[in-house]
Amino acid sequence: MNYRHAFHAGNFADVFKHSILLGLLESLKGKQSAFCYFDTHAGRGRYDLRGEEATRTREAAGGVQRLLASTRLPSLLHVYVNLVRALSAGQGGELAVYPGSPLLASLVMRDQDRATLCELQDDEAAALKALFRGDARFGVHHRDGYEALKALTPPKQKRGLVLIDPPYEAQVGEFLQIQDALTGAFTRWPNAIYAVWYPIKLRQHIVPFHRWLAERSGAARVLAAELLLHPDNSALRLNGCGMAILNPPWKFDRQLNELLPVLHELLAQSRYGAHRLEWLTAN
Ligand SMILES: C[S@@+](CC[C@H](N)C(=O)[O-])C[C@H]1O[C@@H](n2cnc3c(N)ncnc32)[C@H](O)[C@@H]1O
Repeated sequence: MNYRHAFHAGNFADVFKHSILLGLLESLKGKQSAFCYFDTHAGRGRYDLRGEEATRTREAAGGVQRLLASTRLPSLLHVYVNLVRALSAGQGGELAVYPGSPLLASLVMRDQDRATLCELQDDEAAALKALFRGDARFGVHHRDGYEALKALTPPKQKRGLVLIDPPYEAQVGEFLQIQDALTGAFTRWPNAIYAVWYPIKLRQHIVPFHRWLAERSGAARVLAAELLLHPDNSALRLNGCGMAILNPPWKFDRQLNELLPVLHELLAQSRYGAHRLEWLTAN
């Protein structure tokens, strides 16, 4: 395992992933009953944008930093930017810290909500445990997220959201692991929302995953949102990324329809970018 998210914190993929995550969490808050947030690949939770890794790549400059100056953000992005900005209050107006998915979730979860966070890498898991020590809403597990999803679901709270955000070091193999994990999880906890982030390089790697989601995952409704910053179907670099959402909240496609063009405009790196929203199921 070589992947360290600190090199990528706050980049365009994080902005895409975390703004959608926030929208899903906000929709769960539409009901008073508690929900469970399950993060299979949680990372360390909090990233130092002035640290060695982030300053070496400066990926946040092409991501979250681009949103700071915009005055006409849709409400979801406005909330996201305010949450991120608040973490760096008193730092001279510059972003010093970027929240990973667990920290972002913690900022909007209510007292009654619960979270299960899994992280396999030793240092990352230790940092994550330290971050949430004393917060009774959070359970942090230093273990394989796929295996934990099998062992720890369904949770006591009937409603919830599972974020699956692996590093894709195994490339195509990661999709197979996700399919395996989703198969069992969906049987045990069929009414949860599942959000699976994926990188876009070669389209031929994504097509079979989309087909599996549509035909074999068991979910009646699957939505795929994508943001491309470079031409599709090239193995040379990360061209963009997507989020497959099983059991999306009612009318969530409308929210994404508003969000994606704005993200595209703000994060564009060339004139070849694109965004897409597609129902993989007949809906
Ligand atoms: C893309 S990062 C997660 C970022 C985080 N979800 C966020 O949005 O802030 C992927 C993380 O998964 C961890 N990881 C890799 N394989 C894992 C596994 N099998 N189970 C749990 N965590 C794993 C890596 O150490 C890394 O911290």
